[in-house]
Amino acid sequence: MNIQLGVNIDHIATLRQARGESYPDTFEAARILLALGADYIVIHVRRDRRHMQDTDLQRLCSSFAKQVHLEMSPTEEMIDLALKYKPYSVCIVPEYPNELTTSGGLRLGDMDTKELKQKIARLKKEGIKVSLFINPKANDVRVAYKLGADIVELCTKDYSKAKTQKQAQSFLNEISLCSLLARELNLEVHSGHGLNYNNVRDIALIDAMQCLNIGFSIIARSVFVGLPQALLEMRNLLYRE
Ligand code: PXP
Repeated sequence: MNIQLGVNIDHIATLRQARGESYPDTFEAARILLALGADYIVIHVRRDRRHMQDTDLQRLCSSFAKQVHLEMSPTEEMIDLALKYKPYSVCIVPEYPNELTTSGGLRLGDMDTKELKQKIARLKKEGIKVSLFINPKANDVRVAYKLGADIVELCTKDYSKAKTQKQAQSFLNEISLCSLLARELNLEVHSGHGLNYNNVRDIALIDAMQCLNIGFSIIARSVFVGLPQALLEMRNLLYRE
């Protein structure tokens, strides 16, 4: 089975916001990517709206209802936004002020899991699939299952930042084991964060892996070769016999 690809287009909006212009257009980026083989469009509407705006979510959901994957923190404001525009799926991520990008998986041990479980149920009741962005720890996979998540997205930040081959292999093993456990629990398995053209192949070859969410490396490459070529090069790395 070929692995699915969600392309995070936050940085198209970052560029637009840098000049307060109406371009580059996130809708146009989504149209090109979906036409050329991306399976999902991923956007993170952050509380500070530093890149994606509510109108991006609204426009994307109104045209690509089955292919929009929204990353958001589990605040009431964001739950209301998701319930209003109804993306296909939502990934609940931690969000801290002043971080450059998402800093890792949810710290489930520090969260009010009863409240989180209720929020997950509210989203699911409206037909929105719910993913939890977690660190690749067996216990976190079990907690995600107990909370009623449909999907776990295993964070590849540590893997992508590994300094040695040995370290990378050890993070890869953890991700691989957690993927198997998640599948045994009937959870869908995604991964992402820091994946690029040099490190994605080993993650894509994990048997139980079903979808990768990749943003920065694809958008950065597109500056030199264009979005279609940047997407094609990534898709080619995800190919499985
Ligand atoms: N998955 C999640 C949950 C994320 O928060 C991010 C970053 O927005 C990504 C995937 C994509 O990460 P990157 O831009 O490093 O490919």
